[in-house]
Amino acid sequence: FSAFLTDNFGRRHSYLRMSLTEKCNLRCQYCMPEDGVKLTPRSQLLSTSEVLTLARLFVQEGVEKIRLTGGEPLIRPDVLDIIAELRKLEGLKTIAVTTNGMNLARLLPKLKDAGLNLINISLDSLVPAKFEFIVRRKGFHKVIEGIDKAIEMGYNPVKVNCVVMRGLNEDELLDFVALTEKKPLEVRFIEYMPFDGNKWNFKKMVSYQEMLDHIRQQWPNLEKLQTGQTETAKTFKVPGFKGQVGFITSMSDHFCGSCNRLRITADGNLKVCLFGNSEVSLRDVLRSGASNEELLQIIGAAVGRKKKQHAGMFSISQMKNRPMILIGG
Ligand code: GTP
Ligand code: 5AD
Ligand code: SF4
Repeated sequence: FSAFLTDNFGRRHSYLRMSLTEKCNLRCQYCMPEDGVKLTPRSQLLSTSEVLTLARLFVQEGVEKIRLTGGEPLIRPDVLDIIAELRKLEGLKTIAVTTNGMNLARLLPKLKDAGLNLINISLDSLVPAKFEFIVRRKGFHKVIEGIDKAIEMGYNPVKVNCVVMRGLNEDELLDFVALTEKKPLEVRFIEYMPFDGNKWNFKKMVSYQEMLDHIRQQWPNLEKLQTGQTETAKTFKVPGFKGQVGFITSMSDHFCGSCNRLRITADGNLKVCLFGNSEVSLRDVLRSGASNEELLQIIGAAVGRKKKQHAGMFSISQMKNRPMILIGG
């Protein structure tokens, strides 16, 4: 495995998250400030060929999984071309997308043809009016249609990401678990995380332990499953249910020790940690005409600066970071 993608703690970064756009067709409260964010001028965003050049380089060095994020990746006009080109990269085992599901049902046949392997869909409420309150737009039924169609087309597992916020949707935990009875979904409850402009506070966060206790009151026999070393979610299953339930415990029980993820923002910065604010512009290096070797030196130096773990939820809630919409999760 490439030394450039291995950090000082021996973590091998084989999973690259590439943000394709800063734009989104929803306005989720936990992801962006109400009045939006300042968008990077188009000329400073990575072009199709720059996205592919970087992807090729990372795959050559050992990346096996690329997840396309945003903003909302499926609104980028060239998303199908990007997936089709990624598909040709030898060594790349998984092409994944994290989407809000709004355009999913319509695009799915083409996404599948292009070679998309894995789909995670954000859905924070099963009550249409509450969904609309959280995302500040309409569209609940389109997302449900997208989820159902992904299952129908054979995606397995289809993961549903639910950010749990006290006072907003924590009363729906049991309904989300119940959804896994008949549908082969993996519903993942995510601890609410702080990013610029999302008004995070400790009281709004519902911890893994609290969620688990609550669910166990209804399903005491909830069974813990084995998970891969580098998974973000701890997974469980109600015996007899088709699907499963996961918890992403970034705040109360971080999983930095097994982190294998790097990120490239839509404007071309390499971000080695979700909660780290040191970034380096790969776009500028690319545009200066640098060789692959020079790019790799810069990537390797950034990976070498990656911290052992994030600074803890109170510190990260104080630090300057990007708003989530400009990171991509
Ligand atoms: P899989 O590849 O299917 O396991 O998905 P994923 O969990 O890596 O990605 P997804 O985009 O579905 O993200 C789900 C949640 O996990 C989001 O809230 C992300 O911010 C969070 N997440 C993803 N990667 C990391 C990470 O490296 N560190 C932390 N702390 N959270 C992460
Ligand atoms: N806390 C936790 N998860 C978040 N996501 C977006 N913002 C936050 C936050 N503040 C999730 C979205 C999406 C994934 C990429 O990140 O639900 O599914
Ligand atoms: Fe990796 Fe940083 Fe996430 Fe920890 S917080 S798992 S180091 S990206």
